Amino acid sequence: MIDPLSLADHGPVIPVIVLQRVADAVPLAEALLAGGVKVLEVTLRSAVALECIEAIAKAVPEALVGAGTIRTAADARAARDAGSRFAVSPGYTREVGAACRELGLPLLPGVATASEVMTAHGDGHGFLKFFPAQQAGGVGMLKAFAGPFPDVAFCPTGGITLETAPQFLALPNVKVCGGSWLTPADAVEQGDWARITRLAREAGALRRA
Ligand code: 3PG
Repeated sequence: MIDPLSLADHGPVIPVIVLQRVADAVPLAEALLAGGVKVLEVTLRSAVALECIEAIAKAVPEALVGAGTIRTAADARAARDAGSRFAVSPGYTREVGAACRELGLPLLPGVATASEVMTAHGDGHGFLKFFPAQQAGGVGMLKAFAGPFPDVAFCPTGGITLETAPQFLALPNVKVCGGSWLTPADAVEQGDWARITRLAREAGALRRA
């Protein structure tokens, strides 16, 4: 089982992916890899998401594919069975934390308040998704978290763009950002893989603190 914090070792941005067709999964993963992006979060927001994770895990072993939008223990189990190497949840519940621990599935749990940071950290999670980052207080909130939580690292996600990502990545408590801007729905729909490779390359060139 990988340490969730090691997800940040592969680049400054984790793409948050929504797939509507299984046939798009492997070419999309290959397009992101070609742009240097290796860690992929496929959200459980469509009927084919698990099948897409399975396809990527089998056909693109160089990618590190995980499941996003994990809301229940059943989601975590299904994600693990499909070949997910990690799980991301929009919020934190003890149910999801315990399920991932039992399954040996590394979890990046979502938080938006100090109380949620305390709950998730108290359960052993030191690397947290700050979601929805922009709407929940953005850079100012992460700076404020650094005071009481110097031992917690964050992956802000939600409302971040190529233009605003540098402000987040400049913070010492931010290890990586998440965002859907690398995989626009129209590019996936049209199979414009060259555009996605370009977006991945641009995101990969962002500098961190
Ligand atoms: C998520 O689930 O993490 C967000 O939907 C991603 O946010 P974005 O679409 O604003 O990048």
